Amino acid sequence: MSGKFITLEGMDGAGKSTHIPNIIKILQARGFEVVSTREPGGTALGERLRELLLHEPMHAETETLLMFAARREHIATVIGPALARGAYVLSDRFTDATYAYQCGAKGVPATKIQILEQWVQSELQPDVTLLFDVPVEVSMQRLAATRVPDKFEREDANFFSRIRQAYLQRAQENPARFRVIDASVALTEVVANVEAILATI
Ligand code: TYD
Repeated sequence: MSGKFITLEGMDGAGKSTHIPNIIKILQARGFEVVSTREPGGTALGERLRELLLHEPMHAETETLLMFAARREHIATVIGPALARGAYVLSDRFTDATYAYQCGAKGVPATKIQILEQWVQSELQPDVTLLFDVPVEVSMQRLAATRVPDKFEREDANFFSRIRQAYLQRAQENPARFRVIDASVALTEVVANVEAILATI
């Protein structure tokens, strides 16, 4: 047995980050090393790029290129080595977010993202992607209630709606990898759903 590459996705405000400590605990209980990381970020360089990406206005294709620059570093120094030694890697966002935000919401052609994906990842894909799905109004309400918005979180409902649609389309196109979780229900119910899914992987 060896670990797996698990990614968490969803709109801002879907609540995915809330589940990370519990997911780590469940995977560790199986006796595996768990590497919990995030994108953009996950390395010292990636975290510096994250600062720019989340706060600096830039062309959507510049944003895409920087996302993949950070991802290249992340795979080379964190994700790749961890998977090679049999660890579970849990990443708060990965390439599906680039398809949802930069392609779905901002209009960068998918064909360009596919070229970068092939370059940076070769064959590497998550084994399982948990998509936390909520209606746009719920996500916007949660965001307004909880934090100072970053660049992405200041966008309007149409932007969020395009992200949601793009994620759901990715899930439809990759049914073997995606598990779509209704994150609009009570937290205890979402936790139970996440645990039920983890029990199957
Ligand atoms: P997020 O993961 O929501 O972190 P936090 O909970 O700290 O706000 O923030 C990352 C933001 O980056 C989010 O708005 C989505 C965006 N993003 C992209 O636009 N493209 C990408 O490829 C990735 C990984 C993230």
